[in-house]
Amino acid sequence: MKILIIGAGGREHAIAWKLSQSKRPVDIFIAPGNAGTASDFTNVDIDVMDFDHLVKFALSEHIELVIVGPEDPLSAGIVDAFQAVDIPIFGPNQKSARLEASKDFTKQFLNRYQIPTAQSFTTDNYLEAKDYISQSALPIVIKADGLCKGKGVVICQTFEEADATLKDMLLDQSFGTSGSQVVIEDYLEGHEQSLLCFVSNNRLVPMDTAQDYKKAFDGDLGPNTGGVGVYSTPDNEDDVLQAKINAILGQIEAGLVAEDFAFYGILFIGFMIQDGEPMVLEFNVRFGDPETEVLLPRLESDLLTVFEKTLDGTLDSADLTWSNQAAVGVVLYSKGYPGPYDNHQLIQALPDDALIFHNGTSRDEKGQLLTNGGRVLTPVALADDLQTARQAVYDVVAEIHGKSLTYRTDIALL
Ligand code: AMP
Ligand code: GLY
Repeated sequence: MKILIIGAGGREHAIAWKLSQSKRPVDIFIAPGNAGTASDFTNVDIDVMDFDHLVKFALSEHIELVIVGPEDPLSAGIVDAFQAVDIPIFGPNQKSARLEASKDFTKQFLNRYQIPTAQSFTTDNYLEAKDYISQSALPIVIKADGLCKGKGVVICQTFEEADATLKDMLLDQSFGTSGSQVVIEDYLEGHEQSLLCFVSNNRLVPMDTAQDYKKAFDGDLGPNTGGVGVYSTPDNEDDVLQAKINAILGQIEAGLVAEDFAFYGILFIGFMIQDGEPMVLEFNVRFGDPETEVLLPRLESDLLTVFEKTLDGTLDSADLTWSNQAAVGVVLYSKGYPGPYDNHQLIQALPDDALIFHNGTSRDEKGQLLTNGGRVLTPVALADDLQTARQAVYDVVAEIHGKSLTYRTDIALL
């Protein structure tokens, strides 16, 4: 089967790697891909937002299935564009993608179905926002409504900080149109948990859980990133919490059905567990990165079959079998990320017997491997227990050499 994967990161590399283990023969193209995907698959030099070109390529190559990684093309309607020419595509349509693309749209959805979430207020008016905050307790959370690559959420400890954030988003438009409306939300305290679900015609089929590490530095310090480490273990959730989460999944499904979303793809739910009560923080409508890099190596089922069943509306939890092993991934990233960093820096030859997903790499004219982005490489190791997997992945990390690279040393330790 000819498959086209849209995206360029470690998530897309992991999807390609897992699909290549299908029992059925597959021929995998990735647009645009990276140096890692180029080694085993065929990269296609087309931008993820260039839908006309992508559709033309898929038609001329007789692509039979398209898988979309990142949120930007989803929110711009890539799924609708492929559906218009009858090419099966795994991902939510533009309406469903609004559940990630607009925080206000999501809040309204959650409130319509009484799904537990922080109380909030949406406005595009600076004075109205300031007035609301002056009557709120601190800390207070201010979110740009639109897509901001994970940078649009500010937890404000003081009224001065809140005011500066509002000015930045609403008056100075530092996030462009993504911040021209803000969602102001009560601060929730607790621990975060992410749950990725396959969505098969509005029905949610949960995966095992994965824990990512968002802060750049050891000890959970430093700025927020897209995620610089991750682990996944066989699920061992307490029954009471699980029942509450299942109830929320049922409420979400009811909303998707009632409003005719026709959602096929992934719903990634961010929860905050506050005093034992799960509250929904956010939705993403795609696989997480780096969550995918540890989840797919733990998935024993044939991913191609899982995608096909999702798309024909028949996926069931019995279709997902997970390994009993734990998986740990450590992201090597460019020093300076998520701020400015030196790009296109040399990486020495990689150990060739390790599982290493490429997040951002390219090759120079001599064929040498270079960094190409903030997050660069994610080695992943599996073992019977978490600490053995952790040791194994750090053994691989120690064999990767690049002057511009750094990483956290405490992934899966905390
Ligand atoms: P979001 O993109 O909405 O998930 O926000 C990004 C991160 O900000 C989350 O993973 C949380 O760590 C934090 N966050 C978002 N909303 C809240 C909230 N209401 N209370 C506390 N922390 C929050
Ligand atoms: N790792 C978080 C995300 O993919 O949004």
